[in-house]
Amino acid sequence: MLLLTIESSCDETAACVYSDTNGVLSNVVFSQIDLHKQYGGVVPELASRSHLQNIGLVVQQALDGAGCRLESLDAIGVVNEPGLPGALLVGVCFAKALALCAGKPLIAINHIQAHIFSSFLEYDVPFPHVCLLASGGNTALYLVHSFDDYRILGTTRDDAAGEAFDKTAKIIGLGYPGGPVIEKLASSINFYDDKRYPRAKNKTADFSFSGLKTAVLYDVVNRGFYDLRARRLIKEIPPEEKAQIASSLLNCVADVFADKLSLVYEAHPEIRAVTFVGGVACNKFLRERVATWANSQGISFFVPKPSYCTDNAAMSAIVAAHKLRNGSFAQEDFDIAY
Ligand code: KG4
Repeated sequence: MLLLTIESSCDETAACVYSDTNGVLSNVVFSQIDLHKQYGGVVPELASRSHLQNIGLVVQQALDGAGCRLESLDAIGVVNEPGLPGALLVGVCFAKALALCAGKPLIAINHIQAHIFSSFLEYDVPFPHVCLLASGGNTALYLVHSFDDYRILGTTRDDAAGEAFDKTAKIIGLGYPGGPVIEKLASSINFYDDKRYPRAKNKTADFSFSGLKTAVLYDVVNRGFYDLRARRLIKEIPPEEKAQIASSLLNCVADVFADKLSLVYEAHPEIRAVTFVGGVACNKFLRERVATWANSQGISFFVPKPSYCTDNAAMSAIVAAHKLRNGSFAQEDFDIAY
């Protein structure tokens, strides 16, 4: 079975060729980070236009990289939900046209489902397991019984974890995306935790991270670095101080992750493993902290390699392959959902 999958839900244009016997044959990702950096976040219209400019090239590179011709494909998969509407439209229109020309069936892919099963690209994860998905748009916990049977246990009530990193980074002048810079800074002081920010705790599996950016904001205001009225830094924060903020922030998120996983495990002792997926799962410190939590409970832990954590089309191929096996194809008039 040979599949081409296409992903354009946010700010990465991606394509993958996947074989059920040999795995990922090519995995091409064109990141728009440089384009959005200057605005401190993703600008939807620019994202759509960049997808439009690059999608042809990205798909061609994926096919060439795999030494594969369109005729050899069994199906074409495309992410149609959730995401930025204009961005999703580019991928879906492209995939529909390609499928029509090549006479191939289409498979609709849910981006969240692709993240949830991204660990299966490298590991045979046992069921049932719990999946901690943390990205720029989502932070959620899922109870996963099979490819077709998974349900959400808790989600963010406001900001996602990655969003908290991105927004905080903007406040303290670190640029976009915040996650990788925050990790680098925090490692410079060995992830020391001065517990300056509150851990948002409640008795549900839901997350709340918006208070973190507010806590950081008032922290830098009180230290005389930030002017609330002007909404900007008025004094450069010394590197040591920035590192402490970054480190404290990461420890906060790690504690909340462990706390929520414990709650979920208490309610679902049948869980045999935990997976950690999404862009935030690139973070080595958080990977270690989630692994430590899993070890302390005696359950297995799986995390994809970083290139399968951030948005990519390989993770979509895992879902598409399952749907192809079940003959679950998209109707010709299928649409985006967001
Ligand atoms: O999954 P992803 O590529 O895109 C979606 O949001 O769907 O995740 C991007 C998010 C951003 O918020 C970014 O700051 C965060 O992942 N991120 C990280 C790291 N690398 C990316 N957060 C913490 N540490 C990292 N090393």
